[in-house]
Amino acid sequence: MIDLRTDTLTQPTPGMRRAIAEAVVGDEQKREDPTVIALEERGADLLGHEEAVFVPTATMANQIALRLLSEPGDEVVGEASAHIFRYELGGPAVHSGLVMKTIATADGRFTPEQVRAAVNPPADLHMAPTRVLCIENTHNGGGGRVWPLEQVAAVAAEARRNGLAVHLDGARLLNAAVASGTPAAAYGREADTVTVCLSKGLGCPLGALVAGSRERMAKARRFKHLFGGAMRQAGIVAAAGLYAFDHHVERLADDHANARRLAAGLAEAGMPVRLQQVETNFVQLDAGALGLEADEAVARLRTEGVLLSFASRHGVLRAVTHLDVSAEDVEEALERIPRALTGAAPTANLAADAPTPF
Ligand SMILES: Cc1ncc(COP(=O)(O)O)c(C=O)c1O
Repeated sequence: MIDLRTDTLTQPTPGMRRAIAEAVVGDEQKREDPTVIALEERGADLLGHEEAVFVPTATMANQIALRLLSEPGDEVVGEASAHIFRYELGGPAVHSGLVMKTIATADGRFTPEQVRAAVNPPADLHMAPTRVLCIENTHNGGGGRVWPLEQVAAVAAEARRNGLAVHLDGARLLNAAVASGTPAAAYGREADTVTVCLSKGLGCPLGALVAGSRERMAKARRFKHLFGGAMRQAGIVAAAGLYAFDHHVERLADDHANARRLAAGLAEAGMPVRLQQVETNFVQLDAGALGLEADEAVARLRTEGVLLSFASRHGVLRAVTHLDVSAEDVEEALERIPRALTGAAPTANLAADAPTPF
């Protein structure tokens, strides 16, 4: 099987397993785990903030951040297919009592004008105060798109002009940093709080960091405990994070090159992919344009030994490259995918600059 469903599937490498086995650990809840403390210090520097807090998942990191930046009854604004809104089980409403307002975009990236238009008039006593803006970089639902730093700075500046705090869901921020050549800290400094995930392209078994000011992170530690995320000998996992910072960041460029090769090969074979959309490790393939329902396409691919997942847009499949997908796997996938999906004549070829349905 060539498993391209998601970059969370990776197995720890032998080097990472050694780092895990050799980790010096203590009681993390009492701040006595030296490996967790070391990871938090590295993470704070990497993300351009005073302090970072280690948590089990990026979902928890995002939800702690929203809780820090808002009061119940406030409104949070972000892109319509953002993970925080679509895939965190209504967490902003449940954990922080927030109203969610979404901005619709084609690729996950919005403009300062869209931010301004989304802000409720502050003087209107009938409306929820708009308090937080969320940016997702790279943008998962948008096909792994990278926000240029200037665009992040522009929407963050507009948010602040309107009295909003800014949260950056950088679950895949290091993919964005490697793809754009922009330091992660430069992105991070544009936001009040930043999430980074260790268990996606970085290849750790689990873990995430949320970063911000010292004062906010002191509160973040309380919310982490409240949400059930204060751990014990968590250095076992933090050691994997430190290993990943040393060994798995620059190599994200390989995942991006593999994704580009996959997209280019599929386009050559007449498959409906949009090459210009491929900026990091995601490739979207429009099963609908082949006249196939997405679940039928996934079933055919499975029979040929390739696993793909559903993208957030209806009828679109997602292939994700990662640590456990080699260049050879990509070449093999390029044989298998068109074979699995032929018989369904292409009704559209989106490889050119055509407007996209997804
Ligand atoms: C952009 C984004 N943010 C947050 C998360 C949540 O990560 P986790 O499932 O580790 O909580 C994901 C997971 O896919 C994601 O893609």
